[in-house]
Amino acid sequence: MSRTKIVAGNWKLNGNKALVSAFNNAFTVAKLDNVSVMIFPPALYVNEFDCEQLIIGVQNVSEQQSGAFTGELSTLMLNDIDISHTLIGHSERRDLYHENNDIIAAKVVTALAANITPILCIGESLDIRTAGKVNEFIQAQLDSVIDAVGMTGLSKCILAYEPIWAIGTGVTATPAQAQEVHAFIRDYLGSIDASVAQSLSILYGGSVNAKTAPDLFAQPDIDGGLVGGASLKEEEFLTICQAANQRG
Ligand code: 13P
Repeated sequence: MSRTKIVAGNWKLNGNKALVSAFNNAFTVAKLDNVSVMIFPPALYVNEFDCEQLIIGVQNVSEQQSGAFTGELSTLMLNDIDISHTLIGHSERRDLYHENNDIIAAKVVTALAANITPILCIGESLDIRTAGKVNEFIQAQLDSVIDAVGMTGLSKCILAYEPIWAIGTGVTATPAQAQEVHAFIRDYLGSIDASVAQSLSILYGGSVNAKTAPDLFAQPDIDGGLVGGASLKEEEFLTICQAANQRG
């Protein structure tokens, strides 16, 4: 079945008004009818974008709605300024900010309750891969969210498989390595609910660039990419979007 193709750029703690402007210009004239293009800039910049072709989201959201939580953003605020998407569970949030599966599940619950679409990020470390435990690790990450929101809730998410060993390292998973895990994810979800598994978009992330994108996007269970470093260069990011557009 054909699923929505998506390419999302995660700017992390990078970017400025000049970069926003370069993206506004490049994507206003780009023809990309078969792919949804999303940018997740630092939250300060979300309202600087003015290109209809770009869906703008945030990189993180609180599981709390308001109160004494210094430095956080709430779904009430996202609703207030019409932001429709958020990343949840990025490995940098998990590792550097100690967000465990329970916190991530709580964030998904809060986001879905506010009609915000999460891009739920999952993926294993090199140690887990070397120990041959990729599938069980990924399954546990998925289960904690499914326990909280069910398959109906999960069907409203986008998934991103980002092996930690491939993030920011220049080591992209081979298309076969990525496809193997994407197929596992879809099979596992299919054992619970076949129609949700078939319709869910699963993005690959980890050193995606203009060179690696076409072969990755040609895999049957890879529905696009979540791009870090290469999303900071408008021309390269556009080339990646065009690769997905051709598959859409
Ligand atoms: P890189 O593309 O820089 O490896 O980052 C991937 C990522 O973490 C996107 O969320």
